[in-house]
Amino acid sequence: MIVKKIYGSPIETYSVINKVTEIKEQSLFSELISDSTITFKYKLNKDDIIYGMGETMNGMNKRPGRYISFNTDNTNHHDGVCSLYGTHNFFIVDGIDHFGVFVDTPSRSIFDFDYNDSGIIEITCETKDLNLYIISGDDSYSITKEFLLNIGKSFIPPLYSLGYIQSRWGYTNEEDFKNVLKGYRDLNIPLDGICMDIDYMDSYIDFTVNKNRFPDLKKLVNDFKNDGCHLIPIIDAGIKAKKGEPTSDEGVKLDYFCKDTNNKLFKGYVWPGACYFTNFLNSDARKWFGSKFKNITDYGIDGFWIDMNEPAIFFIKKKFSLKNLFIKKEKIESMVDQSKKVFEYKSFYQELDGKKYLHYDIHNMYGHTMQIASGEGLNNILNTRYLLFSRSSYVGSHRYGGIWTGDNRATWNHLRRNLTQMVGLNMVGLLYSGADTGGFIGGIQNRELLLRWMMLSIFTPLFRNHATRTACKKECYNFDKPDDFRNIINLRYRLIPYIYSEYVKAALNNDMYIKPLSFIYKDKDSRLIEDQLLVGDSIMIAPIIDEGKTLRDVYLPEDMIEVRFDGYKFNETNVKKGYTTLKCNLDEVVFYIRNNKLVPISKLVQSTKDIDLYNVELLGNGHEYKQYIDDGYTKDVTLNNIRTLTK
Ligand code: GLC
Repeated sequence: MIVKKIYGSPIETYSVINKVTEIKEQSLFSELISDSTITFKYKLNKDDIIYGMGETMNGMNKRPGRYISFNTDNTNHHDGVCSLYGTHNFFIVDGIDHFGVFVDTPSRSIFDFDYNDSGIIEITCETKDLNLYIISGDDSYSITKEFLLNIGKSFIPPLYSLGYIQSRWGYTNEEDFKNVLKGYRDLNIPLDGICMDIDYMDSYIDFTVNKNRFPDLKKLVNDFKNDGCHLIPIIDAGIKAKKGEPTSDEGVKLDYFCKDTNNKLFKGYVWPGACYFTNFLNSDARKWFGSKFKNITDYGIDGFWIDMNEPAIFFIKKKFSLKNLFIKKEKIESMVDQSKKVFEYKSFYQELDGKKYLHYDIHNMYGHTMQIASGEGLNNILNTRYLLFSRSSYVGSHRYGGIWTGDNRATWNHLRRNLTQMVGLNMVGLLYSGADTGGFIGGIQNRELLLRWMMLSIFTPLFRNHATRTACKKECYNFDKPDDFRNIINLRYRLIPYIYSEYVKAALNNDMYIKPLSFIYKDKDSRLIEDQLLVGDSIMIAPIIDEGKTLRDVYLPEDMIEVRFDGYKFNETNVKKGYTTLKCNLDEVVFYIRNNKLVPISKLVQSTKDIDLYNVELLGNGHEYKQYIDDGYTKDVTLNNIRTLTK
């Protein structure tokens, strides 16, 4: 059951979509309401575990920890970092008492969970206007499902977006993209997409294409599609403020941009130099921004990633020229610590129905509203499903697209965090998510790290290898023994019938695609496991996430089948419940199939274009599998498209 208490007059956040029973008083938390804040306190029991908080750092258990919801462009995600790109204020206390809480406010909020051994939960929101949702249920899984039911179904991407995607900030022209595709195709390493970073644009201006670098983008897109590869361009939040630029002129004329404290157009500096920021609170402005995607979909493009939408603002008073923006990178990186951007975010307003909101007070829903604008726009423009993933998000963003976890680093801890982040993200319906596999930042090629990271990412719906301009080369064909990379990606492609089916069933049933063990198994050990995951209904994974290791302990809550894949063949072995030692070298991948379950697999293909979802083999010792199946692109996605396979 879910109920809500309303404090003050909260702004619409487009997160909960169902009508929820309102309560006048709540007794779960003690509450303190001051002139500008609301504080909630709850006394924890010794063994309570806390799940949730979306993409935040730390383990699956968020206790002890401090999390500050204040969407931040942060390139240094160490474990103590309190703020990342999104705000997902949903958590569950799992212990003697069991309940879920969603603090629905776009204002900066601090969540202390037994921080400094306080033994309490203390939540401080910098607002007097919010909705507090309380969800009851028998266990964490049923509470999560109740929550998911109320925030609506997850976005369902086109089939190609479950293929492997290569990306790098630094592919600048047609030739670069052709070389990447050739690099993969020549070595028979499957690939379905290449991301286009900001250099495809004309002077980093949204919804433009640099004609010198891409003289015939339509042909390129078409040739690539015929070869089973989609180009996926980026769109940034800031729109270059320049007279004569159509998008800039139009937005000014229609009064769709944010205003500063003097009611003048607000400008902040990002990649293109001075930028305007769309007031996404205004539904007409959202429609207008969404319609602009047509400039790019007209080239045959059907997928995008949207970025810098916290929004990231380097500075608001011009400090140096655009050219220097790149040269003075070091300096910029320190300026990019957006958690300190109080001054910038207090310098502009967003207007809704004649009411002005200081951006700072509603900061956490900026990326979310850009995601809504983009998703709705693409849905209107395209006849088939679109691909969309954002850097910034809020609860509710999952209905319009997915996310990636931002500018991580090539470190083993970030691989570990990718694994734990998947739980929090699935708890808020952000099923189409994943990290920059191998790390966005990192100058030195680390073959082992990339291989191990891929062994995790083949199970996350977004499977993208992306790196910054100064990072080492990370395309698989640039490494020694590319066969090892091919083996892993081959497994991803063979699992696509399963991944697709489980993803769509999870979305249609308001369910999670990735779960912690404890959501299904009720034993003590499952409750403590932080480095294994359930993927869909049949698979458990226990990836090796430590440097130099080929062995690890794995906990099996029930008898399972160990599946070892060498790139071509599957080798299935029964393993007994309890602890076991897993050996996995770099040239193979191992995963587990739960007892009495099945996994449909396809023949090997180089692109999802050639996948035959109807023609599958079954792994595992179950007897029946419900396969979701369609052409991968229709918008008509219903539970009627399920067939039963038997073994
Ligand atoms: C941001 C994004 C990154 C992108 C870069 C250039 O840092 O997070 O993915 O490559 O901007 O657009």
